[in-house]
Amino acid sequence: MKKILITGATDGIGLETARKLKSLGHDLIIHGRNSDKLARVAAELGVDSIRADLSNLSEVKEMADTILSKYKEIDVLINNAGVFKTLNPRTEDGYDVRFMVNTFAPYLLTQNLLPILKSGRVVNLSSAAQSSVNFDAMSGKTELSDFEAYAQSKLAITMWSRQMANTLGNDGPVIIAVNPASLLGTKMVKEGFNTSGNDINIGVDILISLSLDAEHASHSGEYYDNDSQRYAAPEADGLDDEKAKKIIEFIKELI
Ligand SMILES: NC(=O)c1ccc[n+]([C@@H]2O[C@H](COP(=O)([O-])OP(=O)(O)OC[C@H]3O[C@@H](n4cnc5c(N)ncnc54)[C@H](OP(=O)(O)O)[C@@H]3O)[C@@H](O)[C@H]2O)c1
Repeated sequence: MKKILITGATDGIGLETARKLKSLGHDLIIHGRNSDKLARVAAELGVDSIRADLSNLSEVKEMADTILSKYKEIDVLINNAGVFKTLNPRTEDGYDVRFMVNTFAPYLLTQNLLPILKSGRVVNLSSAAQSSVNFDAMSGKTELSDFEAYAQSKLAITMWSRQMANTLGNDGPVIIAVNPASLLGTKMVKEGFNTSGNDINIGVDILISLSLDAEHASHSGEYYDNDSQRYAAPEADGLDDEKAKKIIEFIKELI
């Protein structure tokens, strides 16, 4: 039985992954931003829960502090919460919400939980949508379309995953970025792409396998593309170490 923290467990792939992990007998902490939805899922599964809006870094920090004070060890962190289309694409402090929720918040959460994640795993939700990061857009100076902001934020999480894994080496958890497969039938896909989408379980099964199966332990820092069902190179400048370091420096300054 593993202790597993999964973010964005109130809907879509995260909710179904939490349900399946629970049915397999694992010990879960579920995260959500909406208190009512979170309470409903926590009651359904009978598991611990924690609320935080990941578009607000103070809430992310508070979430990490609470987890550190309550739990001695976490085996797996699944950074699943994500946003594509939204009515308010800017945060209060002027950042694009896609970068904040999809890239910066999971970095802060992972970084702050490292002391209790030592020999565990981190599974970071990337996407097949990946596009070179525009640093002006990342720092809120330029606006992007929904798709471009999403694709850049997803390449950025893929880049910091690789960089953090390489920096920590054997002193940290195994960190893997994953495209769970394209157009799985969730709220995000229905609202963003106007299609009913494919079976969510395709994504659920790969998240569970990456979280638990021994075969993935030697792939820290890599990107798993579930559309092709193999480890693959990310798109664009996803392997550019200098750019990845710049992204991390930017996030560190921000937090
Ligand atoms: N579906 C796909 O085909 C696909 C493909 C590639 C990658 N992905 C990635 O897979 C992950 C799950 O996506 P999904 O398709 O399951 O989407 P979803 O159904 O929209 O679920 C997203 C989850 O993230 C939470 N969330 C969104 N904004 C948040 C915020 N500001 N603070 C905290 N939580 C927040 C949502 O909370 P609420 O329940 O309150 O809305 C929900 O629990 C995302 O990272 C997505 O980018 C999905």
